[in-house]
Amino acid sequence: MNKTNIYQQRRNTLAKQMLSKTGGGIAVISTAPEVARNRDSEFPYRHDSDFYYLSGFDEPGATLVLKVSSKGQLESHLFCRPKDAEREIWDGIRLGPEAAPEVLGVEFAHSNQSLDQKLSELLADQEAIYIRLAESAEADRRLRHWMKQVRGQSRSGINPPSEFHDVECLIHEMRLFKDAHEIDTMRKAASISARAHVRAMQVCKPGMREYQLEAELLHEFRNSGAQSVAYNSIVAGGANSCILHYRAGSTELRSGDLCLIDAGCELDGYASDITRTFPVNGKFSGPQRALYDITLAAQEAAIAMTKPGNTFMQPHEAALQVLTQGLLDEKLLKLADYGSLENAIETGAYRRFYMHRTSHWLGMDVHDVGSYRESIEGIAQDEKPWRILKSGMALTIEPGLYIRPADDVDEAFWNIGIRIEDDAVVNDSGCELISRGVPVKADEIEALMKS
Ligand code: GLY
Ligand code: MN
Ligand code: MN
Repeated sequence: MNKTNIYQQRRNTLAKQMLSKTGGGIAVISTAPEVARNRDSEFPYRHDSDFYYLSGFDEPGATLVLKVSSKGQLESHLFCRPKDAEREIWDGIRLGPEAAPEVLGVEFAHSNQSLDQKLSELLADQEAIYIRLAESAEADRRLRHWMKQVRGQSRSGINPPSEFHDVECLIHEMRLFKDAHEIDTMRKAASISARAHVRAMQVCKPGMREYQLEAELLHEFRNSGAQSVAYNSIVAGGANSCILHYRAGSTELRSGDLCLIDAGCELDGYASDITRTFPVNGKFSGPQRALYDITLAAQEAAIAMTKPGNTFMQPHEAALQVLTQGLLDEKLLKLADYGSLENAIETGAYRRFYMHRTSHWLGMDVHDVGSYRESIEGIAQDEKPWRILKSGMALTIEPGLYIRPADDVDEAFWNIGIRIEDDAVVNDSGCELISRGVPVKADEIEALMKS
């Protein structure tokens, strides 16, 4: 299937859902705004994921409107920046509404300057509008404006929409299941990120600074064609490895310490998310190795449970068993205090050393969209069962152990922070790990760093 057809097909799928839910209606999805960084500089532009998922269009200033008739006929309208010879000299070429139908496969394209007027027309006599609800004051203001325009025509017999639906619920459920094109892109993104981790391990030497390893990661990402990082890279030496959202800073990487790197690129709108932890001097110490092997065993247990039919929580529960048993074995948790492994898990004793979940959805956004609970009518939100894993879902598997200095903790373990994170796509029989282009076993990491 060519790329344009992929987006057309997604719009058709959304239209079918609107048809079955409300007999058609209008959906409005805008892309992200440009954001000022300082004075007249802007942050690098990043499109809105939902908008891009349905359009394949990455320019700012655009809105997609889908009009679905009661017979299920779909008209896609793209509103985009008009051509502007002067602005294009400064900011780059714009697609423009004249070329958009051919390039993007939409039926109609208009200048974004006509959005307000056109939407007032499109919303006339429509029952249902699908839009992002409570998104921002500006979005609410625009919606009020459109509604006011339509209501103003009531004496001509025109009715405004009376049903407001959250369009994200429908799109996010679609995005949870990755199609072949998406999985292919995610494989490429993950393999670039894996190469970047290999590069960082290979160049790492005691005395380097965290930001120097970050520079190696960024080099590999951009040199491989990735447009961006998927999130700010974490390069954390020594004690910093125990800070979950640490950024690459200027701390010196010291012999005897671990370095934790959590970094992934974004390629063609898709994220990768990989963490590796390795010894700065290329050789794990005894206590580092002990905790590393426990974390890896926890990851393997979680991977084995990442298969269709299991719930989203089963990999996490499998990881918790191994991590907590490991903490008891290493006397970081005292069996005498808890009586049993089950009780140490039940009481949440492990949380002192492992305080995050093992997985999150992965896709266009690093913490991707999609409900973590099954959608069952008539059950309270927090009582809904955890999501059943199905082929096409993509998620991370990222157990960790983080040991901060404390009086009741053996000093040999102080400041050891370990996370091992890979990206998995659920398939028919289990899952495919798409990020294993970088070694994960301790011996293999040591061999790579030696080479
Ligand atoms: N890199 C963010 C995360 O692992 O969730
Ligand atoms: Mn992650
Ligand atoms: Mn991560």
